[in-house]
Amino acid sequence: MSSRLSFPDGFLWCVGTASYQVEGAADADGKGPSIWDTFSHVSGNVLHDDNGDVACDQYHRIESDVDLMAELGIPAYRFSVSWPRVQPDGKGRVNEAGLDYYRHLVDLLRARGITALLTLYHWDLPQALQDEGGWANRDTAYRFAEYARVVAAALGDRVALWTTLNEPWVSAFQGYAIGRLAPGIRDLGAAVKAAHHLLLGHGLAARVVAEVAGPKSQVGIALNLSPVSPVTTSAEDVAAARRLDAHLNRWFLDPVLKGHYPAELLDECLRLAGGDFLRDGDLETIRADIDFLGANYYESRRVAAAPAKAERGAVPGPSDGPTYDDWLGIVDRRREDLARTSKGWAIDPAGLTELLLHLRADYGDIPLYVTENGAGFADYVDPEGHVKDTERVEFLRGHFAAAHAAIAQGVDLRGYSVWSLLDNYEWADGYSQRFGIVFVDYGTQQRIPKSSAYWMRDVIAANAVDID
Ligand code: FCB
Repeated sequence: MSSRLSFPDGFLWCVGTASYQVEGAADADGKGPSIWDTFSHVSGNVLHDDNGDVACDQYHRIESDVDLMAELGIPAYRFSVSWPRVQPDGKGRVNEAGLDYYRHLVDLLRARGITALLTLYHWDLPQALQDEGGWANRDTAYRFAEYARVVAAALGDRVALWTTLNEPWVSAFQGYAIGRLAPGIRDLGAAVKAAHHLLLGHGLAARVVAEVAGPKSQVGIALNLSPVSPVTTSAEDVAAARRLDAHLNRWFLDPVLKGHYPAELLDECLRLAGGDFLRDGDLETIRADIDFLGANYYESRRVAAAPAKAERGAVPGPSDGPTYDDWLGIVDRRREDLARTSKGWAIDPAGLTELLLHLRADYGDIPLYVTENGAGFADYVDPEGHVKDTERVEFLRGHFAAAHAAIAQGVDLRGYSVWSLLDNYEWADGYSQRFGIVFVDYGTQQRIPKSSAYWMRDVIAANAVDID
């Protein structure tokens, strides 16, 4: 027997993208290079050496993309602003032509009644700032606040929801410790500093947005969060799970919402990065009053304790040396009972309910948004010209129902942004992963809404999801 799960009135359904992943126009109208322009052009960094020079060419197709959203009945669009489009050198001079693109985008959305969710930083740091150390350099936090002021002054009256950073864990640890993403550095100490400076930048920028953007705008941050469980109840495995949780989740949640770092990793991180990166007053700055918390949820994690073979703090190496997991003292234990997406991520909707309930239990009643959730699958255009992504429909149905279950248990979840509007440039995986509810033919830039786009249109119209 099927039943219908209704969402609260005003629940904000949304789809998301990010500048480097969709815009293309890598050097149009005065844009400066970002770390992703640099990184993606180094052979071997990205699958098939794909880069975002053209991507979905949204920069030149923004009118028709916004029209498409309107046709699909999408009420909100989460996009990010490319910092080097606005400030080609990362500081100082403002490139008005770059800002005009976002003014135009926001006006197009407004004209169609689509709510704008703006992310200030989704990983495309101006290369000029990387040349001075990037996020490992404390100065970048202050430059970020300056950039936030420019964008808030230009768009503050027209954008309802702002997020400072998207997934600072990924920027810091994938970028500076694991080195799989730009800027491709492998130095744990630098990663710890980068994480701190990202958080400092968040605190500074959140205050700037609140001050400049006007009383109707709200500001928050989007964190990648995963519930972590131990594979057994042994003390070692439980401790390993807590360590990963402290590193991945609480290292960001605690300073942003409580004004401190998790005690169990603090000494280790101070040792790695040198204690002087953490200065008096930083944690007060980071704990800015924010209006909402965004959770990006893709999968849960299950881990066991690793035998302590690596020297803690050793730089994680590519294949032979100690790995990042060695440093954390964990081993991933895949859940063989769960199906996986094309990216290899386990499909675990129950993990979303668990995450949302934990957030409320540990951090109180701060309004929550799911700022990202979605899945890559091997989508293709069939001979009739359709893209029948039934796996994605079932993925989203399961996760929407999981969000509903959290709401039913009292969680103040205000909205849900599906990743992504379009198939796009999936970072180090290039164009090999299709996450869109709309298929992109990269040869022609044709957009073909998949079954999931039409299914979502019905969910949005009913503000409800039907389950079996
Ligand atoms: C998230 C990123 C987003 C996209 C999805 C699949 O970590 O924020 O840009 O790549 O993963």
